[in-house]
Amino acid sequence: MTILVETKKISKLYTGAKKHFGMKRQSFTAVDQVDLTIKQGEIVGLIGESGSGKSTLGRLIARLIEPSAGSVYFDGADITNLPHKELLPFYRNMQMIFQDSKSSLNPRKPIGEQIVQPMLRLGVADNRLAAELTVYNLLEKVGMKKDHFARYPHEFSGGQCQRIGIARALAVNPKFLILDEPTSALDVSIQAQILNLLLDLRDELNLTYLFIGHNLAIVEFFCDRVVVLENGQIIESLQSDELHTKAVHPSTRNLIDSVLSVSDLQY
Ligand SMILES: Nc1ncnc2c1ncn2[C@@H]1O[C@H](COP(=O)(O)OP(=O)(O)O)[C@@H](O)[C@H]1O
Ligand SMILES: [Mg+2]
Repeated sequence: MTILVETKKISKLYTGAKKHFGMKRQSFTAVDQVDLTIKQGEIVGLIGESGSGKSTLGRLIARLIEPSAGSVYFDGADITNLPHKELLPFYRNMQMIFQDSKSSLNPRKPIGEQIVQPMLRLGVADNRLAAELTVYNLLEKVGMKKDHFARYPHEFSGGQCQRIGIARALAVNPKFLILDEPTSALDVSIQAQILNLLLDLRDELNLTYLFIGHNLAIVEFFCDRVVVLENGQIIESLQSDELHTKAVHPSTRNLIDSVLSVSDLQY
């Protein structure tokens, strides 16, 4: 299989103070020399405790933030130091979906309009009419209705907003999606619907995913491979079906054991 995404010794040092448990700190290495390889068609899960650097790593790969050191490759090309203009085609190919799509939607614009705009801006549709037709189809593809086009974000539930966020990401024909806790804010039954939708779309559109999560059971179900991050470093990388038998790092074992104890509680 060909490699689609690769980081080589990528690091992110946050400088300037951000309050952490009420204490100010001056600089902080959130991602520490990470080598991560994602193959074409693969779903890689990234887990780790809150604050372990998962979102930072996702943003580094999407080139939404600048690395302090190291490089990012996409489809064989080093995109670490590309100027903004040359990054545009890569922005098209890599889309990021966040936990709360509602807050990333503009409350004052119809949702269809918000999917049309990036298509026109990034040149994936020749004209408005073509873009609108694509959006109608996309809305149906993600389980929404055509006439939702003209409605506003507040008219939709959290799960529906997540579907709209997925439609908007897909509108520019990406090859790779970074899903940063895409279902963490949703009810369990809705989570399953969104995860199944994402799996169907992966098959239909030949997508590759980096799935960031903290629920090991979900990551195991959804992903081909699981990568465990701790203090900004990868401490373990295993195929999902080998997780229980082959995980050796104590922190990974803790994650596995905590899943078991949660399900034990239900009996
Ligand atoms: N913009 C920022 N400035 C300073 N520190 C940050 C910033 N964003 C995140 N951090 C810190 O970096 C660490 C990793 O954060 P993050 O990548 O969001 O972790 P995760 O997604 O695993 O919870 C945390 O300690 C967080 O407080
Ligand atoms: Mg995060």
